Amino acid sequence: MKKKFCIIYGTRPEIIKLSPLIRLFEKRKISFFCIHTGQHYSYDMDRVFFKELGLAEPKYQLNIRSKAPYRQGLHTGQMLIELENILLDELPYCVIVQGDTNSVLSGALTAEKISTTESYTGFHIKVAHVEAGLRSFDRLMPEETNRFIADHLSDFLFTPTKNEKDILLREGVPKNWIHVTGNTIVDAVKQSIRIAGKKSKILEEFCLKQDQYMLLTLHRQENVDSRKIFADILCGIDKVARSAKLPVVFPMHPRTAKMLEHFSLKLPEKVIVVRPVGFLDFLWLEQNAKLILTDSGGVQEEACILQVPCVTLRNNTERPETVKVGANVISGTKPEAILRAALKMIKRKRNWKNPLGNGRASELILNVLLKS
Ligand code: UD1
Ligand code: UDP
Repeated sequence: MKKKFCIIYGTRPEIIKLSPLIRLFEKRKISFFCIHTGQHYSYDMDRVFFKELGLAEPKYQLNIRSKAPYRQGLHTGQMLIELENILLDELPYCVIVQGDTNSVLSGALTAEKISTTESYTGFHIKVAHVEAGLRSFDRLMPEETNRFIADHLSDFLFTPTKNEKDILLREGVPKNWIHVTGNTIVDAVKQSIRIAGKKSKILEEFCLKQDQYMLLTLHRQENVDSRKIFADILCGIDKVARSAKLPVVFPMHPRTAKMLEHFSLKLPEKVIVVRPVGFLDFLWLEQNAKLILTDSGGVQEEACILQVPCVTLRNNTERPETVKVGANVISGTKPEAILRAALKMIKRKRNWKNPLGNGRASELILNVLLKS
């Protein structure tokens, strides 16, 4: 019998990072369907990527939004209920999740719960985790719990590098369940960067020139939900902009916009705020920036792939490979430390080797799944 796969996604980075795999499933006419949890829903956090990446509508759209930052249980629980109904109906061979969001935790856990009641349903659903083995070792991050649990519920663990494989081995995951494939973000960047160069008019739109601006993104709960830390980061950005005498383009995540207003914080003078932009425009903004400042996981990776120096506005990273090759530094969130890191990285020679894969991760993942 033909194996049927279920791909679950809910947020901007999952849609982007799963798009090369989804396209492969379509090209090879593999039986699959997608579920969108609805975690991200604004046009510029969701729809725009379907349009740009040529993705078909998901078979199921759940529209489950987070109600409040402290109601993560409700958010996750509502997804579990809806996903269980669909999975019991569809009974796929395998559920595929990517990354570390609440959508990932719910997808992996629902499949596992169905599998543990095999004596009733006669059915076992396998779980595949794309981007497995990442650890910040910071349990205060919701993402750390999500990825740790998802990994330990998975039958197929696809890691970006050998480093994550070693982490999983140390945690007791059987060796033959782990596959080092590279990160699918390399596939996505390679497939889109030339199109971005041709199509994007974002530099002209904001009167920007190559190397004459810096790019900022910020959305981590532990950064923007704390007034003190958010204010510290903005103060650091102000220092960097004044010292480098460059404007800072800031496509602002909706969570950040909400918290900025809630805390009545003011943005530094040289910051140009824009709504979140599409993938092509964002890649082009990254490619032409003098420096990227971010607390995003995916943006750290893309900066490294595109040979643009990066400062990570956090106290840790689950992407240490980017730091090891010299593409990224962890600045913390204190203003002086951000300035020091930025001044160091702005001079960084762009000569590192991308450690995150060669752009064939999706192909390798698919081969493993089809052979299983
Ligand atoms: C989520 C993920 C995070 C990931 C990020 C990618 C969790 C716990 N967090 O964080 O790991 O890095 O997505 O961007 O899964 N909002 C909108 N429109 C949207 C989406 C969100 O306005 O399309 C606002 C809403 O007020 C919402 C808030 O942002 O309550 C937070 O959204 P949520 O999905 O809970 O978390 P993110 O910060 O987006
Ligand atoms: N991104 C985008 N537009 C933006 C900001 C980011 O398309 O305005 C893309 C970016 O290219 C990367 C992904 O969103 O692929 C990163 O998502 P995010 O920072 O929201 O989440 P994280 O990677 O931290 O989970």
